[in-house]
Amino acid sequence: MRAVFITGGTTGIGLELAKYYLSHGWKVGVCGRDKQKFDENFTNHRNNISFYALDVAVREDLKAAIADFSKSIGLDLLIANAGIGYKFKTKIPDWEWSYKMVHVNLLGVMYSFEAALDVMIPSGKGQLVAISSVAGYNGLPGVSAYSATKSAVQKYCESLHLDLKQFNINVTTICPGFVDTPLTQANSHKMPFIMKSPKAALLIARAIEKKKMIYAFPFFFASIVRFLGILPRTWYRSILSMKMFNYSRE
Ligand SMILES: NC(=O)c1ccc[n+]([C@@H]2O[C@H](COP(=O)([O-])OP(=O)(O)OC[C@H]3O[C@@H](n4cnc5c(N)ncnc54)[C@H](OP(=O)(O)O)[C@@H]3O)[C@@H](O)[C@H]2O)c1
Repeated sequence: MRAVFITGGTTGIGLELAKYYLSHGWKVGVCGRDKQKFDENFTNHRNNISFYALDVAVREDLKAAIADFSKSIGLDLLIANAGIGYKFKTKIPDWEWSYKMVHVNLLGVMYSFEAALDVMIPSGKGQLVAISSVAGYNGLPGVSAYSATKSAVQKYCESLHLDLKQFNINVTTICPGFVDTPLTQANSHKMPFIMKSPKAALLIARAIEKKKMIYAFPFFFASIVRFLGILPRTWYRSILSMKMFNYSRE
């Protein structure tokens, strides 16, 4: 039996990934801060799943949980999925929330990888996955710290993909567009090409299976975002200054 630990596996994309791996016979570990979300969403899936109540921004708690989960069966796959977004887009950042985003979206990924590598390097194999975002390709207006953390995760994973090959450890970065989850249900702006979370989880699981280095979806939306990323930055700034992209509160 193979084993996967998914951070933030109690709602949204992480929940659907957990269900996917359970239905394919894996042992699954999930974590989140709120046990109630686990209790509500896993009523029919209680076998082969373990829940750990923790905050991914607390390094030692994550280390202890991943060590406990892996002690009997090892760890084949770690998915660093837990993440937070902005409740409102603002021109002047909400500083406290921005720092929290760095702790959860960036340090949370690093702490997850550190804890997983403690198990994977001695066993000589494994796969690390981080859920970044298409928002990591460009500095988007109104979500500065979100774009920054997701971009940092992309580059962090790109480096580790090169560094960890010799240890037989693969690193995959996933960059979703809009997915219908509690995170995006708080948005009031338009979300082009929004996808249901079970479909997103299926696409992500396939990309993980193929050991892709980076996978951005949906294809058309991700292609537009990547095209914006290679434009001369003066052009990019002119386009993104247009009223249609300005959702920010003052
Ligand atoms: N939905 C999208 O359109 C979209 C697009 C691109 C990228 N993403 C990324 O995909 C990932 C999952 O997003 P989602 O849309 O599925 O969000 P979601 O439905 O809000 O789920 C987030 C999950 O992470 C957990 N979590 C949040 N903060 C945590 C913390 N500090 N410590 C431990 N667990 C924490 C939540 O549980 P608790 O609240 O109980 O802790 C929950 O299980 C995020 O990294 C997000 O940035 C999402």
